[in-house]
Amino acid sequence: TATPPWWCDAVIYQVYPRSFLDTDGDGVGDLPGVTRRIPYLARLGVDTLWLSPFFSSPMADFGYDIRDHTAVDPLFGDLADFDALLASAHAHGLRVLIDYVPNHTSGEHPWFLDARTGRHSRRRDWYVWRDPAPGGGPPNNWITLFGESAWTLDLKSGQYYLHSFLSSMPDLNWRNPAVQESMFDVARFWLDRGVDGFRVDCAPLVAKDPALRDNPGASAGTLAHHRPMGGYDGQLHLHDQGHPDLHRIYREFRTVLDGYGDGPGARIALGEIHEYDWAAWSRYFGRELDEMHLPLNFGLLRTSWEPGPVRDLVQEVTAALPAGAAATWVTGSHDDPRVATRVGPGQAANAMLLLLTLPGAAILYNGDELGLPDADIAPQDIRDPWGLRTPALSRDPSRSPMPWTAGPAAGFTEGGVRPWLPLARPPGGDAAAQEADPGSLLNLTRRILALRRGHPALGAGGIEFTDAPEGVLAYTRGSSPDGPSLLLTLNMTDRPVRLDKLPAGGPWHRHLSTAPQPPGAPAPSDPRVLAADEGVVWRR
Ligand code: GLC
Repeated sequence: TATPPWWCDAVIYQVYPRSFLDTDGDGVGDLPGVTRRIPYLARLGVDTLWLSPFFSSPMADFGYDIRDHTAVDPLFGDLADFDALLASAHAHGLRVLIDYVPNHTSGEHPWFLDARTGRHSRRRDWYVWRDPAPGGGPPNNWITLFGESAWTLDLKSGQYYLHSFLSSMPDLNWRNPAVQESMFDVARFWLDRGVDGFRVDCAPLVAKDPALRDNPGASAGTLAHHRPMGGYDGQLHLHDQGHPDLHRIYREFRTVLDGYGDGPGARIALGEIHEYDWAAWSRYFGRELDEMHLPLNFGLLRTSWEPGPVRDLVQEVTAALPAGAAATWVTGSHDDPRVATRVGPGQAANAMLLLLTLPGAAILYNGDELGLPDADIAPQDIRDPWGLRTPALSRDPSRSPMPWTAGPAAGFTEGGVRPWLPLARPPGGDAAAQEADPGSLLNLTRRILALRRGHPALGAGGIEFTDAPEGVLAYTRGSSPDGPSLLLTLNMTDRPVRLDKLPAGGPWHRHLSTAPQPPGAPAPSDPRVLAADEGVVWRR
């Protein structure tokens, strides 16, 4: 069998640059900080980095509101810093993806400044403008995720403009070919500099109902998918996103990427898609696998941490995959609560083991390799615009700075200033402490990644769930003529469980355990007993 394309089993590490490492003493992380930690990332064993936005921005949404797509914001450095980061990553064998934000710009972007000069401005139609509804008020019922109208009245022209997020983030009009071409030029700018691809922000939002019809239902508004777990109704047909025309856009985007190379040199698109109807989700690969290389799947973030639901999710997602396509798995992001908090500190290692042993690509959010929990953010410290409106939506807790050392501000900043967000402390200690502790989550993550490199079947091979006692998730990976090559058993409970029967194809031997094992510690007297919270990889 041919080796699958590189992205099919990539381990992608998401860097949130604001919170990674501050080298210029302003309390905010920067690009030279990322570059300084590339040896750490290479040693961890991931193969690809994805950087959240570092472009020129007023930072109303911490960089997702872009003022200049091809300039680095001075807060993060300059283009030379970016080139140095990229060169160092490549020299360490790491690919680099960057964020690409097609749906909206900052209201301070020159395109919007031009568009809002008047009804007849050259770039008016680059954004979505409409007259008020006949009786006055917004053109339709679309709302932002804060429940406010997605339309803001521009007093000068008497027209409304559309914004799926903050009113300072107007939505671009991708039905205008000039917008598409200019945004493709933005992609080309970074591809020419050598990036290995993009994470496409809010991918489903670029095509909306051309007639701008009302969304169904009084409460059914824009971005229902961003609502906390359980708030999403997969049956809902929303008119402000997911219009079928977006497939043409992503096919054309794919053509741009494909123009830059294939095989190991392929540049990829990783799409941010909050879609939990897996048939609808799988359409983002394209009928001929000619759209997104990796549509993100956020299912694990919305599934309860128990064997049954996790197994059902994995089976549903893998069943929906088109032939030749790879799944992606996500356990954390800058938009969601931290995995260590969600599953509890005892299960953080199992969550890492699961993430890195499911078939397909994995996205590892910075700090999760340390078991970083959500930070406690006092009301007066809230920075996230979502949290400032609706505290329950605040994403600050998962954006808190990386704890590197025992020094002041955990080594995140050298300036003696306060980090931009309060710090959280992982129970296993900061990165330096975990470095020195063989039983740390950091070292466990390295071991799992090394195992994954040595077993290509772990990334791209098949998965079979097997019978297990209550509270245990068990699956095998990879198949050879004489059966699967690895068995995984994750005890998702906080009590010991005995595995009375191991699947056929053995005998199975314990190969790796998530339980901290001091060097020289005796092997468990009964290898079939999983300690509380213990995950084990078995080998034949
Ligand atoms: C995506 C980003 C999120 C941002 C939003 C608007 O969901 O991940 O951080 O606020 O898009 O760009």
